Amino acid sequence: MDLIRKRQRMISMRQVIGSNDNYCPGYYYYDSKLAITPEELQDLYRFTRWGRSRSLEQIQKMLDGTSMCFSVRYDGKLVAFCRILTDFVFRGSLWDILVHPDHQGKGLGSGLLRYALTHPAIRQVPVIVTYTSELIDFMCKLGFESRDGLLILQRRPIEYS
Ligand SMILES: CC(C)(COP(=O)(O)OP(=O)(O)OC[C@H]1O[C@@H](n2cnc3c(N)ncnc32)[C@H](O)[C@@H]1OP(=O)(O)O)[C@@H](O)C(=O)NCCC(=O)NCCS
Repeated sequence: MDLIRKRQRMISMRQVIGSNDNYCPGYYYYDSKLAITPEELQDLYRFTRWGRSRSLEQIQKMLDGTSMCFSVRYDGKLVAFCRILTDFVFRGSLWDILVHPDHQGKGLGSGLLRYALTHPAIRQVPVIVTYTSELIDFMCKLGFESRDGLLILQRRPIEYS
């Protein structure tokens, strides 16, 4: 990794220290896509059945086109990720919530989502949607509701859980 990217990573870092119970000590939270390389995100996707076939080219294009990427590092390693597509005023959508298996069940997934959803650039957006079939309870604990009126144009099967 070159020096510029290292510096960008430092600038984009927002550490949250244990004064807030939503966040785990030792975990460093980042609010910039510059804090993530496609290679390490591909390594994290390998733990999911829906993301493991994503190529480096697709991931780079996805990062470039995503409004905000949120990530967490532990001991320097990328351990959690999610991303939001938004106009920053009216609408947003949340995708690719994932935590490395070694770090699941410690409150990291919910901490990362709280970090993303309360971020100054995101917290004023009145409508944020996501898609999930298995994580409905998890998302409802974070304030999401399952709405009958939510429609989806699905061009291909969704592999998400
Ligand atoms: C789903 C996921 C992000 C949760 O992250 P996590 O750090 O393990 O979750 P937390 O420790 O913050 O758990 C918070 C709560 O949600 C619950 N929860 C965690 N994973 C859950 C799941 N898969 N289904 C339902 N509830 C779940 C926990 O039991 C916990 O409940 P509690 O507060 O009553 O104890 C993580 O398990 C993961 O990365 N899964 C694989 C990737 C995936 O399927 N992503 C979703 C598609 S976008």
